[in-house]
Amino acid sequence: MAYVSMKKMLKDARAGHYAVGAFNIVNYLTAKAVVDAACDLKVPVILQTSVKTVKQFGIEEFMSFLRPICENASVDVAVHLDHCTDKEYAKRCMDAGWSSIMFDGSKTPLEQNIKDTLEVKDYISGRDISLEGEVGSIVGVEDDIVVHKDDAAYASREDCEKYLKETGVDCLAPAIGTAHGVYKGEIKLNYDLFKEIDDISPIPLVLHGGTGLSDEMFGKLIDLRASKVNISTAIKIAYCQGMYAYSSANRDENDPLKLDDYVYKRIYALAFKHINFFTLRKGSINDE
Ligand code: 13P
Repeated sequence: MAYVSMKKMLKDARAGHYAVGAFNIVNYLTAKAVVDAACDLKVPVILQTSVKTVKQFGIEEFMSFLRPICENASVDVAVHLDHCTDKEYAKRCMDAGWSSIMFDGSKTPLEQNIKDTLEVKDYISGRDISLEGEVGSIVGVEDDIVVHKDDAAYASREDCEKYLKETGVDCLAPAIGTAHGVYKGEIKLNYDLFKEIDDISPIPLVLHGGTGLSDEMFGKLIDLRASKVNISTAIKIAYCQGMYAYSSANRDENDPLKLDDYVYKRIYALAFKHINFFTLRKGSINDE
């Protein structure tokens, strides 16, 4: 298939009442495991890169190994820059080949968020690059962006309406009570708010903070037309715990390829069950 933007895959997902999984990968192994799972399920997928991870590798270096994974895949794959608050960095990633960008101006006043989003949109100018925006601040830590519980704001329907009208982004992440990282305490999702925003939105909505949500929560939100679901922390946990488990059980073995293979299988299994549930509504997210 192809290395593409998120535009068509999210439009199709919204129309077909399923969601595309978007996974924050951290290196070649995690990217390959996620794409392989999507290929085996024959559905599109989004590789997300946090700014911190891109900086660790370097923009061109990172794209140099992501692009072949996407181009060789048997399904459509997008590479999306997650939660970028720096317009200049977003522009550099577009120039280096990212097919999708999230400009996150949610911590600034709405007018500023709109102005900055428009500047990023202008830079796309005719290229097939999708743009995601955020309204209301999603609580928790993603990358180096920290939103404390007290600063968290549920998106207002009016703000979303204005933002959608004035920016013309391709998809929107409204804050509806999900959080980045591991949930502490009761999860309070505002399904009514999600539906209200979806009702006035001409474009697909995105669900952030996927790690730790139950099958029922995912199911309800996908029924309400959530079209992209972000998973980051679960990937990090599977990666680190996989390394730890393998190394602990094989203390005298020093073969990095076997270690990588074990971790690859853990990431593949995690991606598989999420994609299977989001797109085909089969299996369960939280089974072990
Ligand atoms: P989690 O870390 O909760 O999976 O959230 C991922 C996310 O929304 C990335 O933007």
